[in-house]
Amino acid sequence: MKIAIGSDHAGFELKEEIKTYLKELGGHEVIDHGTYDTRSVDYPDFGIKVARSVAKKEVDRGILICGTGIGMSIVAGRFKGVRAALCQDLYTARMSREHNDANILIMGGRVVGKGLAREMVKIWLSTEFEGGRHSKRLEKIEKLMEENID
Ligand code: RB5
Repeated sequence: MKIAIGSDHAGFELKEEIKTYLKELGGHEVIDHGTYDTRSVDYPDFGIKVARSVAKKEVDRGILICGTGIGMSIVAGRFKGVRAALCQDLYTARMSREHNDANILIMGGRVVGKGLAREMVKIWLSTEFEGGRHSKRLEKIEKLMEENID
């Protein structure tokens, strides 16, 4: 899978951990949009890069990390075609795929530990969207996005 990843300073350490994990898993191409150290930055700058690349279908999935995950969720949710899910445990990570077809996984670097985050990424990458009644619901959200453009 082609995966875009990004964080702010508060998510930097977890981003690096996830990059290491994705390398261990193998079979993924990871595009790191920064940030590249722990100096203070503005999370929208990095959220925009990852969400835009998912919206433009340059990558299959995105992973975003800030301190809580909340800021990145707000940013990513502005992009058409992006289904960003702020997840905090294995259940939400799995359900975000099964029911919401999430294409961006968002985590809080100050919320989830490295071990849990690794497991969340594993389950999130390997869980399929269930489709069916959930597709109809996602279509309604996408339609709303179109209406909101003007
Ligand atoms: C940075 O201190 C923090 O505000 C940011 O990482 C994020 O949690 C915002 O939602």
